[in-house]
Formats: sequence, C-alpha cells, structure tokens
Amino acid sequence: MTIIDAFLFLIVHSIDKLGIWHRLPVFLGLLYLSVRRHLHQEYSLFNVGRSPTGVRYNPADYPYRTADGKYNEPFNEGAGSQGTFFGRNVLPVNQQDKLKKPDPMVVATRLLARKKFIDTGKQFNMIAASWIQFMIHDWVDHMEETAQIELVAPKEVANQCPLKSFRFYKTKEVPTGFWDIKSGALNIRTPWWDGSAIYGSNEKRLHKVRTFKDGKLKISEDGLLLHDQDGIAVSGDVRNSWAGVSILQALFVKEHNAVCDTLKREYKDLGDEELYRHARLVTSAVIAKVHTIDWTVELLKTDTLLAGMRGNWYGLLGKNFKDKFGHVGGAILGGVVGLKKPENHGVPYSLTEEFVSVYRMHSLLPDYLQLRDISAAPDSHKSPPSTDKIPMPSLIGRGGEKNIIWNWIYQTNGFNGPPSFWGIGTMELSHVAQGRRSTGC
Ligand code: HEM
Repeated sequence: MTIIDAFLFLIVHSIDKLGIWHRLPVFLGLLYLSVRRHLHQEYSLFNVGRSPTGVRYNPADYPYRTADGKYNEPFNEGAGSQGTFFGRNVLPVNQQDKLKKPDPMVVATRLLARKKFIDTGKQFNMIAASWIQFMIHDWVDHMEETAQIELVAPKEVANQCPLKSFRFYKTKEVPTGFWDIKSGALNIRTPWWDGSAIYGSNEKRLHKVRTFKDGKLKISEDGLLLHDQDGIAVSGDVRNSWAGVSILQALFVKEHNAVCDTLKREYKDLGDEELYRHARLVTSAVIAKVHTIDWTVELLKTDTLLAGMRGNWYGLLGKNFKDKFGHVGGAILGGVVGLKKPENHGVPYSLTEEFVSVYRMHSLLPDYLQLRDISAAPDSHKSPPSTDKIPMPSLIGRGGEKNIIWNWIYQTNGFNGPPSFWGIGTMELSHVAQGRRSTGC
C-alpha cells in the first residue's frame, strides 16, 4: 500500500469507527465514499481462476448481449459469461475445521431465527423485496454438486426446529489451477446486468423464451408467464421463485415486447433478430437504471447516497447534460454508464462471494402476505381493507402464482380489481421484515 493510501485508509477507518459518514454534509460524505471506493478498487479485488482470455475480438462484431454473456468485454471474450468463477473481495481462509463450530443449526435457532416480526415501516415494501430477488436472478447463483448432503439438528435445539434435519445441495468446489486461491465456485447466471431473469443465461434457455417473431418473448394471454406441459414457467430463470418475482418477470417481458413494437413502428426494415437484440439492450438498461437510481436510493435513503448513485449514473455533469450531449469524459465527469472503455481495475469482471453473502436477504420475506382491495375506500389509517392473508410458502412456485391469480379473480368479482399483473398492487405492499433472518429453523 502506498503511503498516501495508508493515510487515506486511516481516515476512512476512523470515520467508520465513529459511525458518522452518513451524517456528514453531502460534499464530505461524497468525498468519504469516493476515497473508500478508490481503496476497494485498489486493494479489495481478487481474480479467481484463470482469467478467461481468448482471441481478442472486434467489439463492433458484437454490439448486443449474447445469450451466455460472452463478448461483452472487448479485451476478454469470456469475462462475465455463464460458468465463470465468482471473484473475491478478501482472500479466502480455510474454514474446514471451523465451519461447524458452533453447529449451524444452533446458530440458526438461537441467533438467527425470527422470534418476532419487525417491519421496515414506510421505507421498504414487498415490491422492493421482489425486485431484489429479481436482480439476484439476473446476477448470481452458485453451481451445486448433484448429490445432497444433510445437516441434523443437535439434541439441544432439535425440539425448537421445525426441520430436525435439513438436506441440500452443496456448492461445487472447483480447482482453479492457481496457487494463491486454489479453489472457487462457478456462477451459473451471467453476472452482467443483462436481464438473465427474463432472457436466461445460455442459448438453450433463450431459445425457449423467444417467439422468433418481431423480436418478442413469450407471454400468456392473461399477461402472466406462460407455463410448459410440466407446469414450469417459461422464463429466463425459474429457480427459487415466487409470485412476486414471476410478476416482475412477466412485467419486463411485456416491456421488452413493447420496445419491439415501438422499434418496429419506427424502423420497418428491422427483422426478428435485430429487434430482439435492440429490445434486450434497452430493457436491460431500464432494469439497471431502475435498480441504481430508484431501488437503491429507496433502500439507502440519505441525501449523500442519492447524490452518489446519481453521480455513478450521470456523473458531475448531471442528467440534463447527459440527456442532451450523451456521455462526455471519464467516470467522475460523465458517470460510469457509457464509458468508452471498461474500467475493471486489474481483474476480469465478475461478482464476488462477498457480494453474494450480503445479498442473501431472505429476512426481507414476511411470514404472510396480506392482500388488500385497492378499489375499496381506505380505512382511517389510509389502508385499503384486507381481503385475505396468505402464508409465504403458499406463494412459492407454480402454486404461488395461482394463489395470486385466484385472489385477483376474487377481488375482481367482488370489487372490480385491477388488471392481472397488478396482482402485486393488491398485496399489502407494506412492510417487510427487518433484521432477524429466518432460516431453516
Ligand atoms: C420466496 C422467496 C425465496 C425463496 C423460495 C428463496 C430460495 C432460495 C434458495 C433455495 C436458495 C439456495 C439455497 C441457499 O443457498 O441458501 C437461495 C439462495 C439465494 N437467495 Fe433466495 N429465496 C427467496 C427470496 C430471496 C430474496 C428476497 C433475496 C434477496 C436478495 C434472495 C437472495 C438469495 C441469494 C443472494 C442467494 C444465493 C445465491 C447463490 O448461491 O449464488 N432470495 N434462495
């Protein structure tokens, strides 16, 4: 570490100790964040595995998103593609002897299990919780072993655990062929912000979701996801899903199709493949934009973060300038979106193990979802009246989607409810649990 960086580290560390950065005036807060970002870029990015190199190609040949995420980084064709290693922000430590001490079931029961539901007040709602899972399904999923392993609850907590034993697929550990980080895990989703949740992460899945007519994706007539003969949703990603995610998937399939319609009206010569490619670029950019300057700003509700996220997107020159003149200058002046060359700070692009760990936000999920009739007059707390309360497990998978639809039908019969995908609008979008993580126990 250089002397200047050591000094900067000391300042950042002292501010962290005081826990005050978010209360600093916006300018100082931004300064703190930019120094922190600089230190992370210099010292907290580690490549795992062989850097996926290959023939250097001409980016002009691939001005679109490929199915498996290849050819997105001009100097590194494989970076960010399906099946590449998760990177690291800290060097891994061998946990072999420590991982089961204390026993994970004891930790889950004594420390993490939700004893009391604590909500997030007005800050965060179920659309926001569904949204972040929709993003996870765009970015990350660890490749697993094919055989299951079992954790058995030790006697001391067994009677407090609904599951006395818990079977799951272990993450597959893959040798890297390198000395410093010997093994790692592979990402089966493309870590790029490329809409994998609706387009999939490989050619086979993409083939399944496309209509091959006017660039469009498949969607059922009622505006929800189509299902195949086995009842599985026809969508980019169907693992660990629930009604909240399916509804967002359906919404963005429709967005994609609407972009295709608009493009076709304006550019009559464009064929199916070109319409699909352009619409995917537009839709992926809309998703990234919603996440960066709408969702994240709502989660991290401070003036400094608002300025920081908008700075990332539009740069110091701001939105008006970017809208008028396009991207000008480097990351600070023009924002990170639209840079002429990628800046990867010495490692190929990937998302990291530590990133996945902090995004395991299962505690966002409430135990029940309260449905409300938004067409009826609100009560004295300005809430529409409740119609039903559905336990979360009933909203998972195909059954979950049916439950939402059923409730919508119930409401339309009685109260003139909203159109189908607005089912989400009829949920008690209020309050998601905070803090305590609810786990297997
Ligand atoms: C009903 C909703 C959900 C279900 C059924 C579900 C289920 C699962 C399951 C079975 C796994 C794999 C097992 C494991 O590694 O623990 C997983 C992983 C994960 N989930 Fe969820 N989850 C849900 C909601 C969410 C939400 C709201 C988030 C918020 C960010 C989230 C983030 C993650 C992450 C980051 C992983 C790790 C992915 C990886 O392996 O790379 N999940 N989820």
